[in-house]
Amino acid sequence: MMNIATSPAVGANSTLAFDLESVRADFPILSRKVYGQRLVYLDSGASAQKPEAVLGTMDHIYRTSYSNVHRGAHCLGQEVTEAFEASRQTVADFIGAASSDEITFTRGTTEAINLVASSYGRGFLKEGDEVILSVMEHHSNIVPWQLLRDQIGIVIRVVSIDPAGNLLMEDYKNLLNERTKLVAMTHISNALGTVVPIAEIIRLAHDVGARVLVDGSQAVPHRQVDVRALDADFYVFTGHKAYGPSGIGVLYGKRDLLNAMPPYQGGGEMIRRVTFEETTYQDVPHRFEAGTPAIVEAIGLGAALRYLDSVGQDAIEAHEAGILAYATERLGEIPGLTIHGQAQDKASIISMTMEGLHAHDIGTIVDRAGVAVRAGHHCAQPLMDHLGIPATARASFGIYNGPDDVDALVAALEKARDIFG
Ligand code: ALA
Repeated sequence: MMNIATSPAVGANSTLAFDLESVRADFPILSRKVYGQRLVYLDSGASAQKPEAVLGTMDHIYRTSYSNVHRGAHCLGQEVTEAFEASRQTVADFIGAASSDEITFTRGTTEAINLVASSYGRGFLKEGDEVILSVMEHHSNIVPWQLLRDQIGIVIRVVSIDPAGNLLMEDYKNLLNERTKLVAMTHISNALGTVVPIAEIIRLAHDVGARVLVDGSQAVPHRQVDVRALDADFYVFTGHKAYGPSGIGVLYGKRDLLNAMPPYQGGGEMIRRVTFEETTYQDVPHRFEAGTPAIVEAIGLGAALRYLDSVGQDAIEAHEAGILAYATERLGEIPGLTIHGQAQDKASIISMTMEGLHAHDIGTIVDRAGVAVRAGHHCAQPLMDHLGIPATARASFGIYNGPDDVDALVAALEKARDIFG
């Protein structure tokens, strides 16, 4: 097993060729059958499967080096702390952060956004300040701001989309003003696949002095992200959609900004000195990591990002673009099927409805053919309201999907239409 603390830095494998069969062989779950059929997993947008590199790394830690981090002077404590901090460095390298200090481990995107809303919100926002969201946001990038609105009276503004799912940049420019203090926006819509022109969003926000939080949950698994090139103030994502474990996520923030923010949760790890009269706090990254962290999950996330890097991020993006194009073409041939979201720049996510069939029925029927899709509102009810539909069936493609998976989906949908349409 590779020594995790000394494994090569990520970023050196951007031009590798893509070998689908070899990638598939890395994911043990893909060899199981569902209802006696080959598993066709098209729900990576909800949670991606885990490669052997992640499973083996986590198993190895539990079997050989498990202990708490940053506490024990003993051998296991040192080994696991080294692996945990090496993983933080891997995350920093993977998203182009200046330093691993700018990487806070959280339980996921949801906790990272709640952390910023609570801490940055309490520290820097006041009544009447405006926060801009888009109509495509996941509930995890809406509700924390509503909670803050109820607490301190911020004003939430919402940018809309055109019928194809492109963000309306003119709307956005019109909403920006001197009261705008924060823009919190998805990088890639989980429901439509729209890739938001986030560099431009950030540049325009900075022009009016606003900070920007980017929800990169759907972007990090699919696109090369460079937080410094983007000049993002905060960038958040979750491990389990990036082929890593659940229960671990990342808050990237510019170091000075994070250090100026008040603590989010109090407890062990995040303090310098505690007396009953007064407590002083650590700088980042420990300031926002109260309590024992998800140790093995954090190390597993590092393994996942190293795995993605070994496959090659450019190769992954090109492969997924091919699958998206093929799926869009094939699904477009099915009478009565509508694809919601045809943005100019789109990631490998297809949301669809079919005449005469509820999205949940689609999900249940294709499941019997071994095809896993997500059906529902995708935690984006305001977007569904905007589209005037209650739900969609969503196929979200990952690195292990190929044209045969698209063919299986199309065959299952055609069967559904023949029976119920
Ligand atoms: N946010 C996840 C999804 O889009 C759960 O499915």
